[in-house]
Amino acid sequence: MSKVTVLEHPLIKHKLSIIRDKNTGTNEFRRVVTEISQLMCYEVCRDLQLEEFELETPLEKTTGYRLTGKKLGLVPILRAGLGMVDGMLSLLPSAKVGHIGMYRDHDTLKPVPYYSKLPEDVDDRDIFVLDPMLATGGSADDAIQELKKQGCKSIRLICIVAAPEGIQYIQDRHPDVDIYVAAKDRELSDTAYILPGLGDAGDRLFGTK
Ligand code: PRP
Ligand code: URA
Repeated sequence: MSKVTVLEHPLIKHKLSIIRDKNTGTNEFRRVVTEISQLMCYEVCRDLQLEEFELETPLEKTTGYRLTGKKLGLVPILRAGLGMVDGMLSLLPSAKVGHIGMYRDHDTLKPVPYYSKLPEDVDDRDIFVLDPMLATGGSADDAIQELKKQGCKSIRLICIVAAPEGIQYIQDRHPDVDIYVAAKDRELSDTAYILPGLGDAGDRLFGTK
């Protein structure tokens, strides 16, 4: 069974309340999503491997540390996942970025894929799938399936707000994929919106409604 981590942190809770608020405008919403992504990145990277090396400070020799292990790949699910990329890249500047595009059909609620462009060596990277919203889990499931088809073996899913239904859906289908969320909300509405949630993340990020 995959691990689910809810990132309980006062700064994350504070900032999450800003983006939940319906009166928060596009500009602030986008900025705070970036800040939350940065804070989440810090926590998600806790177990990255380090190697020691010797370095010299201006005063003496000491032990330094650098990240080893596999290279990283960020894969935002378009559109809303784009909002998380800058925050992650600010801490992981050498990660490569792939894109998977899909939208939820309003009637069936099933994801409709329309774009995929991944780094050539994607199968050789630790992959962070980024999407602020995990509702039914259909979109994340499709994206993870596509990545597994390309040979990816190490995948984490990073979402800001998740419904219990979506978490369960991904855990059932991908027991090898660990999930990191800033909040596990109450439930899905009849139209599969997360409650209390924050509304349509794509529209709020890009001001399309
Ligand atoms: C939103 C969100 C997720 C998806 C979650 O995207 O960003 O990708 O819904 O829902 P699910 O877990 O039920 O699949 P949306 O389809 O609204 O597309 P957009 O980002 O282009 O607005
Ligand atoms: N997608 C969103 O953007 N918000 C939800 O609440 C559910 C899916």
